[in-house]
Amino acid sequence: MLRETFATRYVTPLREGGSLPGIVEADDLGTYVMKFTGAGQGRKSLVAEVICGGLARRLGLRVPELVRMGLDPVIGLGEPDQEVQELLKASGGLNLGMDYLPGSLGFDPLAYRVSAAEAGRVVWFDALINNVDRSWRNPNLLVWHGDLWLIDHGAALIWHHNWPTAAASVARPYDASDHALALFGPDLAGAAAELAPRVTGELLAETLAEVPDEWLADEPGFDAPDAVRAAYAEALTTRARTVSGAIAVGRPTEDRPSQAPGWLTGRSHPESEAAR
Ligand SMILES: Nc1ncnc2c1ncn2[C@@H]1O[C@H](COP(=O)(O)OP(=O)(O)OP(=O)(O)O)[C@@H](O)[C@H]1O
Ligand SMILES: [Mg+2]
Repeated sequence: MLRETFATRYVTPLREGGSLPGIVEADDLGTYVMKFTGAGQGRKSLVAEVICGGLARRLGLRVPELVRMGLDPVIGLGEPDQEVQELLKASGGLNLGMDYLPGSLGFDPLAYRVSAAEAGRVVWFDALINNVDRSWRNPNLLVWHGDLWLIDHGAALIWHHNWPTAAASVARPYDASDHALALFGPDLAGAAAELAPRVTGELLAETLAEVPDEWLADEPGFDAPDAVRAAYAEALTTRARTVSGAIAVGRPTEDRPSQAPGWLTGRSHPESEAAR
C-alpha cells in the first residue's frame, strides 16, 4: 500500500508540466509534487504513474517515493490563478503525490554521463512500459545528489487507453532512437538478462495492489478492479517476455513526429487513429 498523506498547503504550480502538477506541503511535513485526478489527462495517467513507478523501484531504478494524497479544494481558495482554482476544485479526494526532490536538475546529456549499464536498464524499462515520454526533447529524468532519478510515467502503458486492442499494442516493437539515453550506448542485452526474469507474477501483483481501487473502478469491459489488475499483469508479463528482442536504437531524428499520445501533444490519439 502507498503511504497515506493529506495536502495542507498549495505552494505553487509547476508550469513546465503539461498536466499542471503543483508543489504542495502535506500533513507529514513533506513536500510533494501533486498530480491531480481532475487534470485533462485523467485518472489513467495516475494509474500509469503508480504502476510504472512501483515497477521501476522494484527493479532497482530510482523513482521518488509515491504517496496517496488527499485533497480538500479549500486549500486553493487563496490561489489567484483561475486554472489552478478549477483544477483543485475538480480534484477533491484522492490524488497522487511524488516526493519533491529539492535542488534537483533536469537531466542534460552534455553535463551528466550515464554508464552503458544504467542507460541499458532505463531504456529496457521504458520499452517494458511503452514509454514514449523520455526523449531527448523531454527527458523526464532528474539529477539529484549525483544520481539519475526517473519521473513522469503518466503517458506510459499507452495500451491501457484501448483495452480491446491492448494485446496487439503490447506486441509492438519499441523504437528507442529518440530516447534521452540512446547516445550512451545502452547495454540492452545486459539489462534484459538482469531485469526480464525479475518481472514475476509476484512482483506485478505487489505493484498492482498499490493502485487505488477507485481509479480502476467502472472500467468498461471489466466487472471489478481486480479484473483490470489481471489485464495489466497479463500485458506486462507478455511484454517482459517478448520486448528484449524488439528494441531498436537507430539514429535519432529531429523532424520525425513525436510518438507521444495526442493528449500530450495536442494531436488526436494515435491508438484511436489506428483503430479507425
Ligand atoms: N519529484 C520531483 N522533484 C522535483 N521536481 C520535479 C519532480 N517531479 C516533477 N518535477 C518537475 O516538474 C516538471 C513537470 O513534472 P512532470 O514531467 O511529472 O509533469 P507532467 O505534467 O507529466 O509533464 P509533461 O508535460 O512532461 O507531460 C518536471 O519536468 C520537473 O522539472
Ligand atoms: Mg514531464
